[in-house]
Amino acid sequence: MGFVGLGSAVLLVSMTTLLGVCSAGSDAPRGVALGFVFDPKATCEPPCEHAGICIRNNTCFCSKGYEGETCQYANCYPKCKNGGVCLRPGKCRCPPGYGGRYCHKVTCDGGCWNGGECSAVNGVAKCICPSSWSGSKCQEAICPQGCRNGGLCVAPGICSCPEGWLGGACHTAVCSKPCLNGGKCISPDKCRCRPPFSGARCEERTKSH
Ligand SMILES: *[C@@H]1O[C@H](CO)[C@@H](O)[C@H](O)[C@H]1NC(C)=O
Repeated sequence: MGFVGLGSAVLLVSMTTLLGVCSAGSDAPRGVALGFVFDPKATCEPPCEHAGICIRNNTCFCSKGYEGETCQYANCYPKCKNGGVCLRPGKCRCPPGYGGRYCHKVTCDGGCWNGGECSAVNGVAKCICPSSWSGSKCQEAICPQGCRNGGLCVAPGICSCPEGWLGGACHTAVCSKPCLNGGKCISPDKCRCRPPFSGARCEERTKSH
C-alpha cells in the first residue's frame, strides 16, 4: 500500500475512488469518509516526493513503494534486515557482513574456502572452518603433526618438504649416499657415525692407538 501518515483504509478507498482507479476485489465500503476529499487547492510544503500527490494541506498520498510524510522514504517488503537501509522500493543497501536482497544473508568478505561456512558470530560475519582448515577464509591447512625443517603445510596433514627432508612432518633427513656401518643420516647429506667409524659416509675405520 502506498500511503503512510494518513493510515486509514477508508481514505485509501476514498482516494482510489476519487482518482478513478478501480480497487478490484476490495470489499471495503466505498464513497464513505467524505471528509477526506481531494482538495485541488491543497498545498504541501515541503512538497510530496516520488510522485506522491498532495491531497490536503500538508498531506501527501504516496505512490506505490514510498512512504513518509512527504513520501520521502522508499519501502522494502520484506523489510531490510540486519540494519540494511531501503534505498529504493525493494532495494536494500546492506551493512558490511550482510547481503542478499533483504540483507538476510550473512556474507564473508572474499568468501569461505575449503568448505567453510559463513556465519554471524556475535554479529560479525566469520568463516566457520572444517576441522582441518583454519584462517579467516579457511585458507590455511592444518597439519596436526606439524611440518619441521622448513616444511610447509599445503593440505590437511600433508607437508611439502624442502629438499633433503622427507616424511609426514619433514622429519627424516635424506643422505643421497647412504651412511655406512650403522651411521645415521641426521641432516641432508650428513651422517653421524658409530664408533669406531668416521668419514662423510662413515666409511673409514678410525685407527686405534
Ligand atoms: C490550505 O493552505 C492554504 C495556504 O496556506 C490556505 O489558504 C487554505 O485555506 C488551506 N486549506 C485548508 C482546507 O485548510
